[in-house]
Amino acid sequence: MSRAIAVPDFDLVVLGASGDLARRKIFPALWDLHQDGWLPASGRIIAAARQFPPEFQTQLRRDCAADSNSNWSQFADNIVFAENVNAAADLAPLAKILGPAGNRVRVFYAALPPSLYAPLADSIATAGLSEHPARLVLEKPIGRDLESYRAINAAVARRFAEDQIFRIDHYLGKETVQNLLVTRFANMAWEPLWSRDHIDHVQISAAESAGAEGRGGYYESSGALRDMAQNHLLQLLCLTAMEPPRSLDPDAVRDEKVKVLHSLRPLAAEDFVVGQYGAGAVAGKPAAGYREDVGVAESRTETYAALRVCIDNWRWAGVPFYLRTGKRMASRATVALIQFRRPPADYFGGSARPNRMVIRLQPNEGLELQTMSKRPGPGGISLRETVLNLNYGEGVGKLPDAYERLLLDALRGIRTLYMRDDEIEAAWKWLAPALDSGREPEMYPAGSWGPDAAQILLAKEGRQWHNPM
Ligand code: BG6
Repeated sequence: MSRAIAVPDFDLVVLGASGDLARRKIFPALWDLHQDGWLPASGRIIAAARQFPPEFQTQLRRDCAADSNSNWSQFADNIVFAENVNAAADLAPLAKILGPAGNRVRVFYAALPPSLYAPLADSIATAGLSEHPARLVLEKPIGRDLESYRAINAAVARRFAEDQIFRIDHYLGKETVQNLLVTRFANMAWEPLWSRDHIDHVQISAAESAGAEGRGGYYESSGALRDMAQNHLLQLLCLTAMEPPRSLDPDAVRDEKVKVLHSLRPLAAEDFVVGQYGAGAVAGKPAAGYREDVGVAESRTETYAALRVCIDNWRWAGVPFYLRTGKRMASRATVALIQFRRPPADYFGGSARPNRMVIRLQPNEGLELQTMSKRPGPGGISLRETVLNLNYGEGVGKLPDAYERLLLDALRGIRTLYMRDDEIEAAWKWLAPALDSGREPEMYPAGSWGPDAAQILLAKEGRQWHNPM
């Protein structure tokens, strides 16, 4: 994995620069990188859009939370605002701004709907801008299902080689998600236990307290399965379950992730649950239901999904992985819980609870190990649960945003944290039974932990969800 690899001279073209993603994530990340001295002074950012709203540059500064004492103007001087750019049509005006590439790396970041990826690849190539070392960054979800993914991918592949395509899943850029590899492969304390011999089951939850308000246009065509499960949840599953890679080279890591996806048992109808939030209360405040949030009275879009996943390989045979994600849940928390088996002999009258490792991916990033110890006292042996708690954020200040790392890697040409073609293909293929089921989502109140069916999914196997608060 990269360590302080320098960033070359670059032209980074952000297409869709006036949109939500660019404003909320891409520009703030670039600003933070600039402040931390990562970007060479010669690096140019070309913010391209059909049209910028009035006062866009002032708004951008606000979006980046750049205060008046900061060196914002130094950063802003390196941004070229290119208006009237239609990403799917003629990019000649953009070619003019870019000029000859020389030694500069060119990165095109498509902060655009996936339906524009194929026409965009065509227009970049037609304008003569796709030659190496040009790179194209594509946001997830790419397509709506396997078929549409393949069509987009084939069209993009006619114009860009695989090593020029950077398919982003921003979860892979999160510090704690990268840390999963380090936790597993830099610590001999856990890895020997990391299998069916010692682990009873695994839970991976990505819960959000926010709803879909303001994003209805996108979310209605997506839903939790496409928005979170096909990508973020399955990527977390892969990193948790994969075998040690032969090295940390991009393809070595991605080969192992693909092997996990290929080992997934086909998803059966009884192994997934979908839900939709109705009105309720989050953190004591009344919250509207999804249909009201997006203004679609009859919507059947799922805002929650839970999946029971079996990995049919040597390491994980018989160990269920339960994945879930939901909007308007009781709290915002992404965690992986590793539930160990019970000790083989019971000396303590059933009071020894199985150990659990809770990897807190966000917020309060850290790792907890729940262990049993003796309750101090002379009366005999009574047990209590004690928790070893590691806080990753302690002493390092604010953790960098995922986009910072991923943007740096795109500029440096490092693809380890980007998804390869076959990973996405395998993920769409595996999820197809849920995507095609047409199942009516079960309602759950905003501020709860999801529909009853999801509780039953675990309860019928004598288990229950760990709800992080
Ligand atoms: C995005 C989804 O990929 O991830 C959003 O499109 C979701 O719906 C977001 O809210 C969650 O990201 P994070 O980094 O806040 O966990």
